[in-house]
Amino acid sequence: MTSLETPPAVLAAPAEATVRFPEGFVWGAATASYQIEGAVHDDGRGPSIWDTFSRTPGKVYAGHTGDVACDHYHRYPQDVALMADLGLQAYRFSIAWPRIQPDGSGPVNPRGLDFYDRLVDELIGRGIDPIVTLYHWDLPQTLEDRGGWTNRATAEHFAEYATAVYARLGDRVKTWTTLNEPWCSAYLGYGNGVHAPGRQDPAAAFTAVHHLLLAHGLAGRALRAAGAQTLGITLNPTEAYPVDPTRPEDQAAVRLVDGLANRIFLDPMLRGEYPADVLEHVARFTNLDHLRDGDEKIINVPIDLLGINYYQPTYVTAREGATGGGGAYPGTDGIEFVAPVGPLTDMGWMIEPRGLTTLLVRISENYPGVPMVITENGAAFPDKFDRADPDADGRIPDADRVDYLDGHLRAAHEAISRGVDLRGYLVWSLLDNFEWAEGYRKRFGIVHVDYLTQRRVLKDSARWYREVIRRNGL
Ligand code: NOJ
Repeated sequence: MTSLETPPAVLAAPAEATVRFPEGFVWGAATASYQIEGAVHDDGRGPSIWDTFSRTPGKVYAGHTGDVACDHYHRYPQDVALMADLGLQAYRFSIAWPRIQPDGSGPVNPRGLDFYDRLVDELIGRGIDPIVTLYHWDLPQTLEDRGGWTNRATAEHFAEYATAVYARLGDRVKTWTTLNEPWCSAYLGYGNGVHAPGRQDPAAAFTAVHHLLLAHGLAGRALRAAGAQTLGITLNPTEAYPVDPTRPEDQAAVRLVDGLANRIFLDPMLRGEYPADVLEHVARFTNLDHLRDGDEKIINVPIDLLGINYYQPTYVTAREGATGGGGAYPGTDGIEFVAPVGPLTDMGWMIEPRGLTTLLVRISENYPGVPMVITENGAAFPDKFDRADPDADGRIPDADRVDYLDGHLRAAHEAISRGVDLRGYLVWSLLDNFEWAEGYRKRFGIVHVDYLTQRRVLKDSARWYREVIRRNGL
């Protein structure tokens, strides 16, 4: 063939993606109620554990709260317009339980449901598929007063709440996920106390793990019975690497961390049984009374989608005298969680896309047959924004975030080419928002939020992402 018959690729297809995702791959963004909504007293919303926690001195950076956040509760039409402008095909948001049941149980507050009703209509009107998360950490305070996730009744209440939300939105919302990152709810909420409700008790953390799983199972079954089309859950599995893969002690450390962070959730959910080694570990802290006959069967409700949140991997090594992962990993004394090195995000998190590839491949091999979606991936960086900039379209050059996203999308693509059934990617986050214990000082958005004016400005990463979506690739 002569060169004339084969034009150089760059001339043939300048706008074509070189890394293409499968046809029908879903592109979107994610947020969560307490992180963006504000309006904590509007329309009968009750208090959540995050209202209480953020008001407790010393718990959240500079005493920040979600009282106003991004004021999304009032600005959702503009925010949905922004999503449409970016070409988002799906939007993952969470429902605030205390808006629906201010006390966590009993009568439903229709005005709370009205908000999500309007939001869903707005999304659908713009051709954006709503993906609902039923629980993204804002537990009604009244339930916490009765023990929160350490109380089995919370799981039962959750199923009732899920049913009520489905009754209102089920005609339009196709994708339902029960929990977001139950690892954080249990271990950070009840183990090391960095998140609400701020308890520090390993027994409580393990009990919470079980009741969260039970809540997933009970709600999942209720949603299925009610006719939910696509049912899922979002986890944040930890991809743990041994510092020295040739050392059996390091491999054992990885096994334990994998047990506490991953298998404790995935095995009962997808295999109907807790792993024996994990139960043995948990039995060091509790008498396992919280685990009843039949629970694992309930937790094993069939799911159609496994949501994966990925930010960074973990490196562990066995070392005498190491203090372990504290309340986040109860009983891991003798294991060192190695401090992140190399390029870090503003959270101090490692930037290592290969962790995403190996995580996706490993899960799809160990738990075959469950399609996955990346329900969160993104990075906080200290973006430069000049409020005095008179130009409403002023740029926010966040090349570091673009690099982060680009690298992780390549890693996700690599997993697909290794056979992983990955259906979509949702960037965290659409907007800068309330980053839990870090308050507003960490910015994850592809859209900048000026908290004084509530003005939204697209960062370069948002413009870049729009192109990725348009090309279905990189
Ligand atoms: C995971 C959580 O689901 C989300 O709420 C949080 O903001 C991001 N990680 C970043 O930390």
